[in-house]
Amino acid sequence: MFVSNSLGITDGHLTLGGVDTVLMAEKFGTPLYLFDEDRIRENCRNYVSAMREHYGNGTVAYASKAFLCAEMAKVMNEEGMSLDVVSGGEIYTALKAAFPASRMFFHGNNKTHDELELAVDCGVGRIVVDGLEEAESLNNMAGRVGKKVAVLMRITPGIDAHTHSFIKTGQIDSKFGVTLENGDALRSVGSVLKMENLELKGFHCHIGSQIFETEPFAHAADVMIDFMCAVRSTYSVELHELDLGGGFGIRYTSEQNRAEYGEYVKAICEALKRKCAEVKYELPYLIIEPGRSIVGEAGITLYTVGRVKSIPGVRTYVSVDGGMTDNPRYALYKSPYEACIANKADNDRDFVVTIAGKCCESGDLIQENCNIQRPEPGDILAVFSTGAYNYSMSSNYNRICRPAAVFLRNGEPRVVIRRETYQDIVKNDVLK
Ligand code: LLP
Repeated sequence: MFVSNSLGITDGHLTLGGVDTVLMAEKFGTPLYLFDEDRIRENCRNYVSAMREHYGNGTVAYASKAFLCAEMAKVMNEEGMSLDVVSGGEIYTALKAAFPASRMFFHGNNKTHDELELAVDCGVGRIVVDGLEEAESLNNMAGRVGKKVAVLMRITPGIDAHTHSFIKTGQIDSKFGVTLENGDALRSVGSVLKMENLELKGFHCHIGSQIFETEPFAHAADVMIDFMCAVRSTYSVELHELDLGGGFGIRYTSEQNRAEYGEYVKAICEALKRKCAEVKYELPYLIIEPGRSIVGEAGITLYTVGRVKSIPGVRTYVSVDGGMTDNPRYALYKSPYEACIANKADNDRDFVVTIAGKCCESGDLIQENCNIQRPEPGDILAVFSTGAYNYSMSSNYNRICRPAAVFLRNGEPRVVIRRETYQDIVKNDVLK
């Protein structure tokens, strides 16, 4: 009945991880990001055990852009995950939680000098160089501090997975990586192999996000091994690390179907084993980077309903106390979401509404044509599957405070990000 099996109903109230969400709204206020931590941990364990069962030689790196705070980094460390980081801020956050730098993979199409310096200083395990220019400046930097830096190179493999064009990253027209099709990738490898302070360990690609099929991942594995063979025959080196990125889809709506996450891992591992046997290539150390699928379905957002405005023959707007500031994904991508009135969870969802935020902007919508129970001011509205790319993409537009985030573990809530205050809003203002 719900998009995520973390959700349920007890005594007419929506529950997450068995906890009454209406009580959570009362206790911590709204808007509120609420996460089923048990589910997050279970998702990690499913990936890690599938990797062990189907392959043995690899690691699962949580893509922290999906949702990161210090406590999340700590949980990922406890679950034995590696970490995909894309900025100095993400590295800093993870270090604050004592996440080992050696298990970080640092991505980004335009890392700054300062970010690279931070990564080299703290000993990030792998820097994923996005192009030759970056490799050159990293090589110089490593030389200056007398370090040899282990790198992967990001390849754009030209795979067009079915997903929203804004979140596709593997096709040829991409700001990321070095292009495979036009020979740029192979030429760049030759140059990087000559750089004395870099040690090229292998390759990375990421074909896109919110992908439901297993085939595009298996295809990516094939294409990348072909490329590694081309590297072998051109430069007489066999490189043994392959990072296939993330992108495994989650359920935002009941119509969406996804495979169990172990199935994606299995498809990738089987494709790799088949291909490597065929071309006689030693099985590489495999890295995958799920982000959305670790946290997405485990999180919901709770709002308080304010104004309910019915325009006969047009639509009913239900305005909530958050909006595009805590969830910009409908405004950006027209992403679908399902929702319900948490304090009327037993009632039929037979009312069609547009959920609007409180920003001074007509496009500030969370969802249109959404079925919920009959709404009244004061109700608690829950929007599902908001765990990924909601908090991490939130803003202070209109000087609105970001909500708090609460983890639920074994039925116990704990605040992992406190609610912003007006003091936070002005803390960087310089008043002369
Ligand atoms: N690895 C790399 C190199 C990536 O670029 C990404 C996502 C991931 C891993 C994780 O992908 P996931 O498993 O989460 O799909 N803001 C967009 C999503 C952008 C994803 C960018 N890269 C959204 O809200 O849908």
